[in-house]
Amino acid sequence: MGYKAKFRVWRGEGGEGRLEDFTVEVNEGEVVLDVIHRLQATQTPDLAVRWNCKAGKCGSCSMEINGKPRLGCMTRMSTFEEDETITVTPLRTFPVIKDLVTDVSFNYQKAREVPSFTPPADVKPGEYRMQQIDVERSQEFRKCIECFMCQNVCHVIRDHEENKPNFSGPRYFIRIAELDMHPYDVADRKEPAQDEHGLGYCNITKCCTEVCPEHIKITDNAIIPMKERVVDRKYDPLVWLGSKIFKR
Ligand code: SF4
Ligand code: F3S
Ligand code: FES
Repeated sequence: MGYKAKFRVWRGEGGEGRLEDFTVEVNEGEVVLDVIHRLQATQTPDLAVRWNCKAGKCGSCSMEINGKPRLGCMTRMSTFEEDETITVTPLRTFPVIKDLVTDVSFNYQKAREVPSFTPPADVKPGEYRMQQIDVERSQEFRKCIECFMCQNVCHVIRDHEENKPNFSGPRYFIRIAELDMHPYDVADRKEPAQDEHGLGYCNITKCCTEVCPEHIKITDNAIIPMKERVVDRKYDPLVWLGSKIFKR
């Protein structure tokens, strides 16, 4: 059965904006993105929203719904009361381009700062032999759809713009952990994780894990093991001695 829902949507650009109220039709089985599309079709043709797959796989339609980061295409209208006002705002951690569309280029910049997979020079493509357990470990991290909701919710940058230059964020900690745990990656991932990507800023609040639509255990399976690896290296007396000798 259809009904009329109350939507409060953030509209604006150039650093200025406001919440606007709408009453809009909702049909059975619809998701928030369907309702936003109906708003575009019937009341606000210029409402900007980013989307692509409508299947929870492209990561484009990230937004904040009632203050929580969500994929618009995967948030069912049936999870709200019919008389509830549903507030839709852009991701707060990134600058707004227009309405619900944010500039997420911070994330692409951070992606470029992680050197790519670096296999040993004497092993040719096709010669890599990995145990299934190693394959599965990295498969979990490769499920990431780059929705950037983990980046959006992490308080280290959400509340502290000034931390952005020194903190790459949870999405890139899983990338670094994936490479560090790869049996054929020979690049040093540990020191850069701490010194360049700001792993030490993370105080394991786990907010990133809670919002991940792919249910990647960002904190338990990537960040905490990576922190342990960094600490092991720093406090292992043999590693410490070796680094002193070879630095001379
Ligand atoms: Fe989104 Fe999860 Fe990837 Fe973060 S790790 S960008 S929350 S899919
Ligand atoms: Fe941020 Fe996740 Fe750490 S939310 S503080 S990166 S556990
Ligand atoms: Fe692709 Fe929502 S439109 S994840």
